[in-house]
Amino acid sequence: MKHSKVVDVLKSDKLLQPVTVKGWVRSFRNDRFIALNDGSTIHNIQCVLEDNAIDNKVQEKITVGAAVAITGTLVESQGKGQKVEIQITELKVVGESNPEELKLTILSPKRHSLEKLREQAHLRVRTNTFGAIMRVRSKLSFVIHEYFQKNNFYYVHTPVITKSDAEGAGEAFKVTNFDLTNVPKDETGAVNFKEDFFGAETNLTVSGQLEAETYAMGLGSVYTFGPTFRAENSNTSRHLAEFWMVEPEVAFCDLDGNMDLAEDFIKYVIQYALDNCADDLEFLENRLVQEDKQKPQAERSEMLLRDKLKFVLENNFKRVSYTEAIEILKNSKPNKKKKFKYIIEEWGADLQSEHERFLVEKHFKSPVILFDYPAKIKAFYMRLNEDGNTVRAMDILFPGIGEIVGGSQREERLEVLKEKMAALDIPEEELWWYLDTRRFGTCTHSGFGLGFERLVLFVTGMSNIRDVIPYPRTPLNAEF
Ligand code: 4AD
Ligand code: MG
Repeated sequence: MKHSKVVDVLKSDKLLQPVTVKGWVRSFRNDRFIALNDGSTIHNIQCVLEDNAIDNKVQEKITVGAAVAITGTLVESQGKGQKVEIQITELKVVGESNPEELKLTILSPKRHSLEKLREQAHLRVRTNTFGAIMRVRSKLSFVIHEYFQKNNFYYVHTPVITKSDAEGAGEAFKVTNFDLTNVPKDETGAVNFKEDFFGAETNLTVSGQLEAETYAMGLGSVYTFGPTFRAENSNTSRHLAEFWMVEPEVAFCDLDGNMDLAEDFIKYVIQYALDNCADDLEFLENRLVQEDKQKPQAERSEMLLRDKLKFVLENNFKRVSYTEAIEILKNSKPNKKKKFKYIIEEWGADLQSEHERFLVEKHFKSPVILFDYPAKIKAFYMRLNEDGNTVRAMDILFPGIGEIVGGSQREERLEVLKEKMAALDIPEEELWWYLDTRRFGTCTHSGFGLGFERLVLFVTGMSNIRDVIPYPRTPLNAEF
């Protein structure tokens, strides 16, 4: 019999019908009640063993973590919190799970810290918390495509291996070059990679933007959504060495249009999560409430998870220039007693996440879009303003997160772009293909990058970015 997913069985009203489910035992109480989870929902389905329904030898093997296939009759449940349960008629232990060995893992039935779960990242998806996070992650990834596809954007697969370091921050991972000296040549002898595969130094992409720009010049509106890599040695709860980035790029669009797009996009995907991940978000919210109860009053969250999501949905993102923000920050303290760790002294300084969060959480009390940053703290491709000092950059700042989006209107004027590159010692020969977009049919165009994990962090209410990606890559950590 074809098996059903627990998420569907729990909603089913086909009482007294036979049903088969397959999943993993979460608990087995009183030799009678199996809580089965198959990953399709946060909820377990209760499966009840009647006396003598199955062989004793089989029964002994029903242990936490075992994989089982259960067939039975769907009946109304007497238990609280569930409408239906399965009266077992047939049970097969598909994969055993040794209780003594399991005790040594994070699957043993007690509370483990998130740090402990990270050490066994290959097992943590079997916990409620990680099941919920990864389902939300998957749904968010789906709705990102939905949003762009509905709005006539085309998905472009930009290369992972590249010669360019788009952000110019020098944080690119080098691709190890093979020594192909001994690789046989073809019969013409033409193929002979003496030193390295590409005949040039390459790295893993830090952003698909430059390639996306070239595609926006043909397809109009495009987006990339793929892994990006940065060897920045920042061991923070917001940085990964490998993260996923969503990067739309739009021809004939200025910075205001870019801001409108980003705000509309973010609100759409968050609304989708609220509508389609309700059970998982409720679970994650309860988890946070429980966690909060253990903390002293002063450290407790000010907003529940769903209030935080509504905070984004119900507020217009406040658009503020960098210059205005600096004036505010110079005259502010995060609270009466404390000063900022990094004190902003002058125009031109880069903001730290404490400043970004202050603007959002304390000053404006809404998500903030900061724009027109000093040219010297931003990448070469951003459009220079008439003042000659600032560029048409925008960062979107979120509560609890700080920067979630970075983007800009691009410098579309060939000569200005060349001057900026020269000032930063970026050789024109390296980016000749990029410069061609400005040579042939250049136009006002804009785009942005949203850090996907930062979005998942925000929506799930988790506090460490390592907990919203299956296998986090951070300094000294690539175990799995
Ligand atoms: O601000 P960034 O560096 O912008 C770019 O890469 C542009 N090329 C994007 C564009 O305009 N197409 O990165 C964009 C976003 C950040 O706002 C942040 O959310 C995320 O990517 N991000 C990271 N997320 C996790 N770990 C890291 N190390 C990240 N670095 C950036
Ligand atoms: Mg940035």
